[in-house]
Amino acid sequence: MNGINKLGTRGTARSGLVAALDVGSSKVCCFIARVDATGASRIVGIGHQVSRGLRGGAVVDLEATVAAITAAVEAAERMANETVKRVLVNFSCGDPASHTVGVEVAVSGHEISDADLRRVLAQGRPRAESGEREVAHAVPVGFRVDGANGVRDPRGMFGSRLGVDIHVVTASTGALRNLRICLERAHLDAEETLISSYASGLSILDEDEMNLGVTVIDMGGGSTTIAVFYDHDLHFADVVTLGGQHVTNDIARGLATPVAHAERMKTLYGTAIASPADESAMIDVPQVGETELAEPNHVPRSLLSSIIQPRAEEILEFVRERLELSGYARTAGRRVVLTGGASQLTGMRELAAKVLDKQVRIGRPVHIQGLAEATGGPAFATCAGLLCHAAQGRSALPEAAETAPRQGLARVGQWLRENF
Ligand SMILES: Nc1ncnc2c1ncn2[C@@H]1O[C@H](COP(=O)(O)OP(=O)(O)OP(=O)(O)O)[C@@H](O)[C@H]1O
Ligand SMILES: [Mg+2]
Repeated sequence: MNGINKLGTRGTARSGLVAALDVGSSKVCCFIARVDATGASRIVGIGHQVSRGLRGGAVVDLEATVAAITAAVEAAERMANETVKRVLVNFSCGDPASHTVGVEVAVSGHEISDADLRRVLAQGRPRAESGEREVAHAVPVGFRVDGANGVRDPRGMFGSRLGVDIHVVTASTGALRNLRICLERAHLDAEETLISSYASGLSILDEDEMNLGVTVIDMGGGSTTIAVFYDHDLHFADVVTLGGQHVTNDIARGLATPVAHAERMKTLYGTAIASPADESAMIDVPQVGETELAEPNHVPRSLLSSIIQPRAEEILEFVRERLELSGYARTAGRRVVLTGGASQLTGMRELAAKVLDKQVRIGRPVHIQGLAEATGGPAFATCAGLLCHAAQGRSALPEAAETAPRQGLARVGQWLRENF
């Protein structure tokens, strides 16, 4: 289906083989896709693996994370019958902070070229950088030619001044370094790092939502990432380091049951909003330390929702607070798209609508072809979205690639050092 990736297409799409790696707190997943010159992409390799080395989106166990990355990438490579070295990677670690940086250069009336674009991007300077924080995500979000806003691709236009706004997300150097070490040990180069909720938005939002204003809330295992999109671009991102694993742990603690059972009970019987029918429905709860033959406890389903609801509310209240503090709550409009594995909890959509007082839908990746049913759900929105970023030509990097050979992380690092 040609044109499926036309949404938000700007600049030059990366064509050829593109690999995406979602390093999540619950699972690591790798998608390999073929992108054609029109930006249409087809997934040719998929691999995913349970992740045990991250907490709240940050690497806490190098060895476990490297093992999960290696297994996920190798599985995707086997399926694609290709090997990959460079990957687009998400991040939600290191207390991300988002800013928009605006710069302008003179172009003296000639036709604007790739070289002018590189020059204006090189002028970007984030205003809030310190020794402990660095730029991890830098995506141009709109160009101006002679003060006229809303230019999506200025190449080929004429003018005397070229401006660009770059949306920049900084994060703590230590957390980013740990993520990079894992990639290095897995023999991979990070072609670009992108905040998780931005990637998710690219794969799940429709054209109108992205244009008119929408908030994406990606509820993962260890973190909930937020993104505000309007005018086709990301303008604000934030992270709350709470997710579905906190709900599971609350159940395990509250019902004195092993974590694996708590997880199963959550997905099978859990609800984020209690209903009167939950009083009479009884569920079995195996006890910690008991053998499988021991009689499980019988508890009303309402007990389970009474544990889940306060935690789910807490997460959503933090999200609401962050949005209010950001100043973007109004611009984001009334539309929210929930995604990520934890958005699948029964009643989560209704609870989010109540807490945030917005219209809420659940989003799953739609702008990518070839996702099997098992990997087409909300948990895979981030990984699919990393591919959309490349396919839609949103990167600040491709222009430079025409003249310089790609050297992965080193190249991005160098680009960021030169430009910021
Ligand atoms: N059907 C379901 N109902 C409720 N929760 C679910 C369901 N399926 C998955 N989850 C929860 O989703 C969470 C994992 O989501 P996801 O795969 O998006 O996380 P992740 O991307 O690995 O983590 P993060 O983004 O926080 O680093 C787990 O806490 C899991 O319990
Ligand atoms: Mg995630």
